[in-house]
Amino acid sequence: MYKDLNVLLAIFILIQYCICITNAGSVTVSGISSGAYMAVQFHVAFSSVVQGAGVIAGGPYYCANNDVLIATTSCMADPSLINLTELYAATDFAASTLTIDPTSNLASTKVWIYSGMKDTVVVQGVVKKLETYYQHYIDASQINTTYNIPSEHSFVTDNFGNNCSYLGPDYINNCNFNSAYNLLSFILPTEINPPSTTNSSKENFVEIDQSQFIPYGTALDAGLYDYAFAYIPPQCQQRNKGVCSVHIAYHGCLQTIPLIGDTFYVNTGYNEIADTNNLIILYPQAQANTLNPKGCFDWWGYTGADYASQLGVQMLTVKKMLDYLISEYNI
Ligand SMILES: *[C@@H]1O[C@H](CO)[C@@H](O)[C@H](O)[C@H]1NC(C)=O
Ligand SMILES: *[C@@H]1O[C@H](CO)[C@@H](O)[C@H](O)[C@H]1NC(C)=O
Ligand SMILES: *[C@@H]1O[C@H](CO)[C@@H](O)[C@H](O)[C@H]1NC(C)=O
Ligand SMILES: *[C@@H]1O[C@H](CO)[C@@H](O)[C@H](O)[C@H]1NC(C)=O
Repeated sequence: MYKDLNVLLAIFILIQYCICITNAGSVTVSGISSGAYMAVQFHVAFSSVVQGAGVIAGGPYYCANNDVLIATTSCMADPSLINLTELYAATDFAASTLTIDPTSNLASTKVWIYSGMKDTVVVQGVVKKLETYYQHYIDASQINTTYNIPSEHSFVTDNFGNNCSYLGPDYINNCNFNSAYNLLSFILPTEINPPSTTNSSKENFVEIDQSQFIPYGTALDAGLYDYAFAYIPPQCQQRNKGVCSVHIAYHGCLQTIPLIGDTFYVNTGYNEIADTNNLIILYPQAQANTLNPKGCFDWWGYTGADYASQLGVQMLTVKKMLDYLISEYNI
């Protein structure tokens, strides 16, 4: 009888353990440049949902203060002008008005931060301000930084793209460093498997009608493309509960579909990790418009003053797409 109880207890502990060590059901986010600023916004605004953020060449939350001039000066080139005291106050104020989730959630999340040594577009000092910003809310042990790779402004891979020190389209550089793998290893709740060594199958992409999730106005006004893509490996297509998790990857300026086609969502290395780790990768898509000629995600206010909160049109759209994936794929 005691023996049976012990067996039952062992099974119970095992089940608990399995629940504790899985990545299933987690939601994480990452991005490059304007997509990095967007990833930070999404993490901070929806911190009750997002467990981790990978930030490549981006700065602190609300850095631009709804002003394109501040965006292009302080928040890209001159970090000495970034006043973090004011950004903590802006963040805390947004939380107090319930337009973002309570900042206390951030304490249990993880952040991976990258800035290339040769980045001349969003200089390292700006990204280091982001590190300090996050340290205000998150224990330093949950923040990992990489500042020693000699890359120009780009999404860095270990197998695709331009010369590491090159600045230009498609803003993906090969520096023998797999950013997608490194960031996901750090921010996912538990250890991950190495990426698949065979290229991911294009058949696993699902085109999502992004425009149907836009809560108001046109896709063009929202700076969003009519559709987005999700990479859904076969084991997640089964829709079995407790198996898969979702990661959102935001492209940068000048990386939209009209400009670079499928290059970002095929070649940045995320999908090969999705294959071996039961991950769905959601690739939201921006679109250029008059106020946003380079097709950036909104981190300075071209869609309205609430761009960085849960009320921002792009934030709402991506949150609705995320909710759709969670429900449709039984995450
Ligand atoms: C930063 O902003 C705070 C609050 O507005 C202000 O008291 C402080 O002097 C500012 N710091 C700098 C270095 O400008
Ligand atoms: C990359 O660019 C640097 C600087 O222009 C050059 O020295 C180096 O040889 C290039 N590397 C490759 C692999 O082309
Ligand atoms: C931090 O990130 C680097 C690069 O991704 C990695 O090599 C290192 O192991 C990480 N450190 C920790 C404590 O996870
Ligand atoms: C796999 O992807 C890499 C990088 O995009 C490419 O260079 C290579 O040709 C691809 N290999 C195959 C077998 O398709």
